[in-house]
Amino acid sequence: MKVLIEKDYKTISEVAARMIKDEIERKPNLTLGLATGSTPMGTYQELIRLYKEEGLDFSKVTTFNLDEYVGLDRDDPNSYSYHMRDVLFNHINVNLENTFIPNGKSKNLEDACASYDKIIRDKGGIDLQILGIGENGHIAFNEPSDKLNIYTSIVKLDDTTINANSRFFNSTEEVPKTAITMGMSSIMEARKIILMAHGKKKAPIVKRLLEAKHISTYIPASLLLLHPNVTFILTEEAYEA
Ligand code: GLP
Repeated sequence: MKVLIEKDYKTISEVAARMIKDEIERKPNLTLGLATGSTPMGTYQELIRLYKEEGLDFSKVTTFNLDEYVGLDRDDPNSYSYHMRDVLFNHINVNLENTFIPNGKSKNLEDACASYDKIIRDKGGIDLQILGIGENGHIAFNEPSDKLNIYTSIVKLDDTTINANSRFFNSTEEVPKTAITMGMSSIMEARKIILMAHGKKKAPIVKRLLEAKHISTYIPASLLLLHPNVTFILTEEAYEA
């Protein structure tokens, strides 16, 4: 595990975007795992800048997003599908047909989960996965529990997650209570993982993670400690020495 501590949010965003750029230049048909939440937004802005100013080419890149709310239409501004187009896909030259996000509006959600795993497998797995972390240690929407899902699954969101994400909605009541999330296996099978964290609120979970002597399903992100190629990119604020 590599830990990079940078002075502020702008710097972690630049460092992460530069690492993504290096991977795309090494492998133009990269399969890139993307996250939502506020953490990677600066990275996406930086990727747009690298596309516009340095000609970073996304035309052969395939993307897989980690998760999606159940019940929101893909054109609902609160859906991750809409959000990703808004903050990244519409501003770079990625082929939208190569951008995948679980379908939270599917009539058969079980099938939607299974087919998502199949598409990831068919594309040869994820080369580089970008992750944020929830204050409760969740990654994607894999919430702390006595068991974690291996495969893409429908999950009930924790109250802490619903409260944390309510800032994007008009009220807490509007936040969907269930979501589809990639399971631990697709995430852990990614060849390289970058986990980013910024802000004081993340410091306690980051500290628990970096000091962990055990993995625990109650801290889903702790499973990343078993991964052979994971880099944590943290702001000084999120890293309490
Ligand atoms: C959300 C997402 C995660 C994200 C996390 C942290 O609920 N499902 O993928 O990493 O919570 O969000 P933020 O970056 O806004 O702190």
